[in-house]
Amino acid sequence: MKIRALFAGLVAATFSMIALAQAPVVIKFSHVVAADTPKGKASEFFAKRANELTKGRAKVEVYANSSLYKDKEELEALQMGAVHMLAPSLSKFGPLGVKEFEVFDFPYIFDDTTALHKVTQGPIGASLLAKLEPKGIKGLAFWDNGFKSFSANTPIRTPADLKGKKMRIQSSKVLEEEYRTLGALPQVMAFSEVYQALQTGVVDGTDNPHSNLYTQKMHEVQKHMTITDHNYLGYAVVVNKKFWDGLPPELRAQLELAMKEATTYANTIAQEENDAALDGVRKSGKTAIYVPTKEEKLAFKKAMAPVHLKMADRVGKELLQSIYKETGFDPTKL
Ligand code: LMR
Repeated sequence: MKIRALFAGLVAATFSMIALAQAPVVIKFSHVVAADTPKGKASEFFAKRANELTKGRAKVEVYANSSLYKDKEELEALQMGAVHMLAPSLSKFGPLGVKEFEVFDFPYIFDDTTALHKVTQGPIGASLLAKLEPKGIKGLAFWDNGFKSFSANTPIRTPADLKGKKMRIQSSKVLEEEYRTLGALPQVMAFSEVYQALQTGVVDGTDNPHSNLYTQKMHEVQKHMTITDHNYLGYAVVVNKKFWDGLPPELRAQLELAMKEATTYANTIAQEENDAALDGVRKSGKTAIYVPTKEEKLAFKKAMAPVHLKMADRVGKELLQSIYKETGFDPTKL
């Protein structure tokens, strides 16, 4: 009788070990934007390809729209291992102590995506991602979103129109300085709270790539927007380093391939998605879209140029110079 019970126990244990060995590795991927955005779509693409390439050994669960964590919480949760993968905007790494990422917030530093990709997809990008490792975070890729436009309930045609305006910003000291330079009153706020803050007048305005503005329906509570392209907003896809390094090497290699494909996908669709979102705003008829003339845009560039000098030490002069060298931008020659 005893032997039979022992045998049954052994069989049960073997079966549960097999089940455990076959249980997929779950990767929780949390983000704060809508599913219908460049980041939302790219994370779903990654989940699909990860599942295909690993033949079901990895299961990526995507949590969109701050449904799992909000801005600040998500990075803490990643460090604790409560979530495995994120793609925070580059402006959100400063509070973690990796201030160099705020170099992406320097106004007009990238003329276009060609200039941007020289940095994000080249050695400077790789060295920036490496700076995350002492924080227990591994950077896997840079994903594009787009260039930002100002929005408010009053027209913003000139830099002076921002004076005294309460504007929502992300948690970046460079962005804070940029708004102060314009005479505005920057207010750091989680992305998930912006719509309501605009609706209730807690803030007067904000800035966004068009895809974020449109998918959060901010155009319904902002009467005006101006296509200033004054800042870039993009993402670093990051994982908990201990979790990632602990994956079986073969599985990790398949996931890296899925990430490579997702990065190409993200950076291919971002522009189209933002164009389509702007079209959506236009068609809604709720927000007047102003396209500044070349001279008007230059006035914004000039007004924000002092930020480059003021904040150079925050990100490091050497890093800043290396980016100028790649992009050809020179804030002293506007
Ligand atoms: C924001 O807070 O405005 C953005 O970082 C949101 C995002 O992830 O695109």
